Amino acid sequence: MQHWVGLYERIWRTREAVFDDLLASETSLPRVIALYTRFEACHQIFQTQENGAWVIHVSTAEADTGTALDKFERRGGIVAFGKTIEAPPHYRFDMAGMLNDFAADKDCVIELGAGYGKRLFEMFLGGGAKDLRYIAAEPTAAGRRITAKLSRLVPDMSLDVAAFDFANPCFSPVHGFSRILLFTSWSLMFVDALQDSFFAELAKIPGEVTCVFVEPVGFQINPSNDKISLDQRDTARERRWNLNFFQKLLDAQAAGLVEIEAISTDMFGPLDDTSSIASVCVVTKPALTPP
Ligand SMILES: C[S@@+](CC[C@H](N)C(=O)[O-])C[C@H]1O[C@@H](n2cnc3c(N)ncnc32)[C@H](O)[C@@H]1O
Repeated sequence: MQHWVGLYERIWRTREAVFDDLLASETSLPRVIALYTRFEACHQIFQTQENGAWVIHVSTAEADTGTALDKFERRGGIVAFGKTIEAPPHYRFDMAGMLNDFAADKDCVIELGAGYGKRLFEMFLGGGAKDLRYIAAEPTAAGRRITAKLSRLVPDMSLDVAAFDFANPCFSPVHGFSRILLFTSWSLMFVDALQDSFFAELAKIPGEVTCVFVEPVGFQINPSNDKISLDQRDTARERRWNLNFFQKLLDAQAAGLVEIEAISTDMFGPLDDTSSIASVCVVTKPALTPP
């Protein structure tokens, strides 16, 4: 598990230099996010070992993604609610819209494993409430630093950054709130074996919590012999990604800690990269009654 946190610390430190370059000439957060996203799509990040230490590199050559007409005419398989449809590369799932719907009656939203805060910023820029407290919880100092720098571009957004590790979960940043939206987005997948402490600590949050887990765990929810499920499972095993989230969720429900409200298996993602095909689990935990 620490393997992934260490790797992400180096990755976010490298990406910080890209953000710093953008921030030197840009003052609009939507533009910085869009320009960074384009940079990430066109450049490969890889690591090598030099004198016993891992070093991260960003390829300088831009990947050739084709002309505008190539992209317009290209059709790839997109998974939507477990079915494959043909769509151009511009087709997107509106995750910020979905999260804002779940945030409608909340006083706080926390993302666990928030990276540079992209999902939270997209919620706010997508019309998320101004009186909502946004918390970017992330284990890497570099990810938290980038989030703090970007937040200066949106002074109206009430955003805090906090350290958080699934290996040693601490939910104290949300203990003062009464209606909390807690979500993950391709972060819990980096914990090979989730411990019982995750749901046990989550259950101790005093307020009412709605959790939205957006993770590539379709192979755990609905194991089958179809290509998506087998490929997702084999990739997770090979890369030491999470294999037990769904079982831990079922255990937590059986123990009365949480309740599963809805599950959408293989809700969205590109067919050619099964680790990007997200399933969504909506889970609730009632408020604790005072003793
Ligand atoms: C693929 S990025 C996703 C970032 C963000 N959630 C998003 O959707 O843009 C994975 C994130 O998971 C975080 N992560 C990895 N291991 C973690 C752990 N043990 N606890 C919490 N977050 C972790 C990484 O630091 C990284 O920011």
